[in-house]
Amino acid sequence: MKKILDMLSEEMGKAFEAAGYDGTLGKVTVSNRPDLCEYQCNGAMAGAKRYKKAPIAIAGDVAEKLTDSQVFQEVLAVTPGFLNLKLSEKFLLDVIKTMAKEPKFGVEMPENPKKIIIDYGGPNLAKPLHVGHLRSAILGESVKRICRYAGNECIGDVHLGDWGMPMGLVITGLKEKHPDWPYFDEEYEGDYPTEPPFTVSELEEIYPAASAKSKEDPEFKARAMKSTYKLQNGVRGYRALWKHILNASVADLKKNYSALNVEFDLWKGESDVHDLIPEMVDEMKAKGYAYISEGALVVDVKEETDTKEIPPCMILKSDGAALYNTTDLATIKERVRLYQPDEIIYMTDKRQELYFEQVFRCARKTKLVKPEMELKFLGFGTMNGSDGKPFKTRDGGVMRLEKLVQDTKDEMYKKIREGREMPEQEAKEISDVVALSALKYGDLSNQASKDYIFDIDKFTSFEGDTGPYILYTIVRIKSILNKYKEQGGQMEQLELLEADNEAEKAMEMVLVQFNTMVRNAAEETAPQRVCAYVYDLANAFNHFYHNVKILGEACENKRKSLIALLILTRDIMETCIDLLGFSAPEKM
Ligand code: ARG
Repeated sequence: MKKILDMLSEEMGKAFEAAGYDGTLGKVTVSNRPDLCEYQCNGAMAGAKRYKKAPIAIAGDVAEKLTDSQVFQEVLAVTPGFLNLKLSEKFLLDVIKTMAKEPKFGVEMPENPKKIIIDYGGPNLAKPLHVGHLRSAILGESVKRICRYAGNECIGDVHLGDWGMPMGLVITGLKEKHPDWPYFDEEYEGDYPTEPPFTVSELEEIYPAASAKSKEDPEFKARAMKSTYKLQNGVRGYRALWKHILNASVADLKKNYSALNVEFDLWKGESDVHDLIPEMVDEMKAKGYAYISEGALVVDVKEETDTKEIPPCMILKSDGAALYNTTDLATIKERVRLYQPDEIIYMTDKRQELYFEQVFRCARKTKLVKPEMELKFLGFGTMNGSDGKPFKTRDGGVMRLEKLVQDTKDEMYKKIREGREMPEQEAKEISDVVALSALKYGDLSNQASKDYIFDIDKFTSFEGDTGPYILYTIVRIKSILNKYKEQGGQMEQLELLEADNEAEKAMEMVLVQFNTMVRNAAEETAPQRVCAYVYDLANAFNHFYHNVKILGEACENKRKSLIALLILTRDIMETCIDLLGFSAPEKM
């Protein structure tokens, strides 16, 4: 189904032509004076010079050609030459009917769907998830769902931080505590235990301790570097121990992500490309892209048009060790080999922007990717506390994700219990679902690149631009539909009729924007577009609900038509929240 503005512009263009003017002048836009009209066209103003005619005269000519338009119910030529437009109910009804029967409510599928890899999450083994990982997970998941719904093939990759010095630190920490474990006995040739000899919480204690110790104790640091080296060079016991760390952490991460409704298609990590690095580096050297500068191997990535200094991309440190960049470059190479994506999107904190600029330029320059392949960085801002500073625990520590989620659930539970009689277990289940909407919507409704304040009271409110308000509206629709069914109302073959009041028409006008919104959200990779739309729709529905009798409508055919409209509204709203990565309860 075409976008509504395209349909309107087409109708308007025909009228311009019929009146003897250029059809491209018939571009229609949403009205900037909603008190006067629904849509408008400024083409007569634009054409005045060319046709040496007063704009109002042109507008008048065009309006005359539209007197019996099926699309516009009212076309007014107003001074100095605007065309103020109102849609006909019949036209709206036709569009709504088409939406209701087309797959994905009429979202046009791209002629050439793209294959997109989305790199989001980025958790690190043996380290707990913190709020910084939350934004990546929430935003990345939504971007993936939106691009997929818009007809692209999307692959989400968690891209684990599972390699390098942090792993050496954990292994060295474990070795200090348990020097007798067979993993550290390099003579040992037997099998290793199949179950990990530690729990995830033990691991999470070991990492910060080992990391702190390495900063104070150079001797410990040297041992950790040696462990890293041994691990990376395939020493059997170290690899076996690492595998345990990997398995235990991944199991825990999967649990945490799934509680957030976040799913990855690939659970690959930095370690997966370790063996590909030497060949990639040799190639960069052989082709003359990489050279030694102050002992390190680098690739220049600055360009003539740069207005700020872009430092070279470092490929190997002076001691020959690979870096974060090296892994990201090798990962690009591997993704191209395995999946031939048209695009890779990275979702991280915006402080990594320069870093990714270097990596992308280096990948292009060294021809790891074809020129037409897109590498996109979507940087997000910081989640701040109410003091406007990066979110911290009360004692100033890094806020663990689990804690933040639990706090939101507790607050939601309190609010759910406030005005309602409900068994405790049910209230708990419902508040868990609603809390997720509070957390995600609070994040997604902001422009991703901006910092925002995590305001638990506002996010969990049932009023205003919040997740709970959206869910509350969906639940309200569901309960009307249930009541209708209980009263013996039939749900099949409900014929939609023309809107016969202002609130119904206003709601239909929002509904028909759905396909346009989805295309825009996908093109701009912007979940906040979905939020803004679903909020508009919720407002339009609530206005309708307060002004129109639904179950009390006396005319049976009209009642059925209203029910059909409610079903469509519910389905569209549920699709929107699914794109945002949360769902609605049956009641609340
Ligand atoms: N593990 C990193 C961190 O916690 C994030 C990884 C982001 N993705 C990437 N391809 N570099 O900071």
